[in-house]
Amino acid sequence: MPALAARIDRHYAQYGDGHITCGRKPGPDDIQLATNDYLALTRDGRILESQLGALATPDQEVYMSGVFVQYLEAQRKLERQFASFVGSEDAVICQSGFSANEGLIQSIADPTTPVYLDMFAHASLWQGARAAQAPAHMFRHNDVDHLRSQVRQHGPGVVVVDSIYSISGDVCRIEDVLDVCEEEGCTLVVDESHAIGILGERGQGLVASLGLGDRVPFRTFSLSKAFVGRGGVICASSRFVDYFRYESWPAIFSSVILPWDIARFARTLEVIQDATESRRRLFRLADQVRGNLIDSGYDVSTSQTQIIPLVAGPEERTKQLRDALESRGVFGSVFCAPATPRNRSLVRLCINVGLGDDDVVRLIDVCKQIRPQVQPETWPSLFRHRNSG
Ligand SMILES: Cc1ncc(COP(=O)(O)O)c(C=O)c1O
Repeated sequence: MPALAARIDRHYAQYGDGHITCGRKPGPDDIQLATNDYLALTRDGRILESQLGALATPDQEVYMSGVFVQYLEAQRKLERQFASFVGSEDAVICQSGFSANEGLIQSIADPTTPVYLDMFAHASLWQGARAAQAPAHMFRHNDVDHLRSQVRQHGPGVVVVDSIYSISGDVCRIEDVLDVCEEEGCTLVVDESHAIGILGERGQGLVASLGLGDRVPFRTFSLSKAFVGRGGVICASSRFVDYFRYESWPAIFSSVILPWDIARFARTLEVIQDATESRRRLFRLADQVRGNLIDSGYDVSTSQTQIIPLVAGPEERTKQLRDALESRGVFGSVFCAPATPRNRSLVRLCINVGLGDDDVVRLIDVCKQIRPQVQPETWPSLFRHRNSG
C-alpha cells in the first residue's frame, strides 16, 4: 500500500536519528523527573509485600473479560473502598486510565451528544468522544466563558476536564466549570489522574477535597501516577457502574486486571491516605523549583503543582533543551505533537518526593547554567490564557 509506505517514510524522515522523546539513557546518579511516581512508592516494602502475597496465592484464574466473572470479591472490595475514599457512591476498576476514559465517554455519549473538552484534556478523553462518534468541541484551556459560549452554540452535552492538567501542571477551575454545567444542563467528567494521592489532606483528589463529590457525576483516575501500577478507576453511581460493566467496550472486549495488582492497589490506597507529610514535602519542593526557575528567567506557564513544563516551542529547541539538561544529569519527559500543539513542544519536569534536597539544588543550578544556551526568554508564552486564575 503506497500511502502507508509514504506515511511510515514520513516518520523516519522526521525522526530517523531517534525520536525526540528519547534522549540519553539515565544513569543511577542522574535526577529522574520523568516519572509520575510522585510519592516515591514504587519500591515501598508494604506495597510489594501485599502484591507478592497475592502472586503466591493459588487458584486465581481471571484471564477473561469482566463480563464473564461475577465473583471478583477483592476487586469489588477495592472498588467500594476507593469510592468511599473519594466520596462517591460507587467505583469500577478498569485496565488503565486510558481505557477508563475511553470507555466512559463511549458509554455516556453518542452521535447526538456534544462533548466539550478543555483543549488540554487527556488524549484518552478525546479518543472516547471518537469512539462514541460524538461531536467533539474544544474549549480554550481553563476558559469558562469559552466553554459557556460553546455549550450555548451547540447545546447541552458532556463537559470534560482534568483536575490537574498533565501538560501545563495547573488546576482546573472546577467550581466555575460546575456552575456552567448546572446552569446549561450538562453532565461533567473530571479526570483526576494527576490529583489522586496529591490534592487534599488525605490525597483524595480535587473534587473530594473541595466537597464537590455530590455535584460531579463522573470522575476518572489513572492508577499509573501516584498509585504506580497499571489500572484505572471510574467513580460514579452504583446504577452507572453496573451499566458500564456491560456497555463499555474496554470492559467487554478486554480482560480484567490481575489479582496481584488489585492487592497492590488496596495496600497503596492505605499507604497514600497516610502520606500527608510526603504531600507537604512534594509541594514544598515544587514551589522551591518553580520559584527559582521563575527567578532565573524561565516561563513555567501556569504550573501550580508538582508538574512544571518548560515550553521551548519548536521541536529543535526542545531537543536542544533536553540535551542540555540530560548532559548535566537531569531527565524530564519530552512532550510534542500529538500530545501538545505543534510548535509548542516542551520538557516536563515532574517533582517527586524521592528527590533529595541536594538533587533539587542541583536541578536548579543546572537550569541556571544552561540558561544562556537554551535562551528561555525567546520561548513562546504558551499557556497564558485570559482566565488563568
Ligand atoms: C490525565 C491523564 N489521564 C489518563 C491517562 C492515561 O492513564 P494510563 O497510563 O493509566 O492509561 C494519563 C496518562 O498519561 C493522564 O495523564
